[in-house]
Amino acid sequence: MDGNGRWASQRDLPRTEGHAAGEEALLDVVNGALEIGVKWLTMYAFSTENWRRPPDEVRYLMGFNESLLMRRRDELNEKGVRIRFAGRRDWRVPRRVLKRMDESIELTRENRRMTLTMAFNYGGRAEIVDAVRRLVADHVPAGKVDEGAISRRLYFADMPDPDLVIRTSGEYRISNFLLWEIAYSELVFPDVLWPDMRRSNLYEAVLEYQRRHRRYGGVDT
Ligand code: IPE
Ligand code: MG
Repeated sequence: MDGNGRWASQRDLPRTEGHAAGEEALLDVVNGALEIGVKWLTMYAFSTENWRRPPDEVRYLMGFNESLLMRRRDELNEKGVRIRFAGRRDWRVPRRVLKRMDESIELTRENRRMTLTMAFNYGGRAEIVDAVRRLVADHVPAGKVDEGAISRRLYFADMPDPDLVIRTSGEYRISNFLLWEIAYSELVFPDVLWPDMRRSNLYEAVLEYQRRHRRYGGVDT
């Protein structure tokens, strides 16, 4: 979800107004994804690098994510969405926010129509580091370390690798998102700032995905 700051700057608004405007985009995209039967949706909400932002913006984002959960979790729950969080629960995440996250996980635990994973204080490298730490903690011998052994120790062993990754705002970077999981994902970069993103943009990205030929390193038959 990229481009909130630029969306706000274009309107002479503080960056935080761009984040606030991103809420409608998020809900429209989730509802659009539900409509077309997407079972797994992962949104990058806050990265392990976003702590480098000015303290006021970081504070705003923490409060915003907390209040968004309180505003939206009931409607998401009613629609059959299971909410989960991928990332590190470190000391920098305020306790209040962790509490809302835990409540949202608990509330939606049984839902299966869609799993909505919020990548929050998430870094792809940190996730791999955490998986390696688990390998070591599990005393896995070097000869037994294979891709499966690592995959099973990522934050969610049951989450399929993404078919499609969408990054908004015209930036052509991965920025530490799901590094292990996107090895063979199709990447789409719509030229839209996140607050302007709607389900129609999602559908365009899916149509683009459907035009791609996935070979996974093999050849077309
Ligand atoms: C994405 O928008 C929101 C977060 C990373 C939390 P940005 O805040 O990165 O917006 P730009 O890239 O500055 O426009
Ligand atoms: Mg950005």
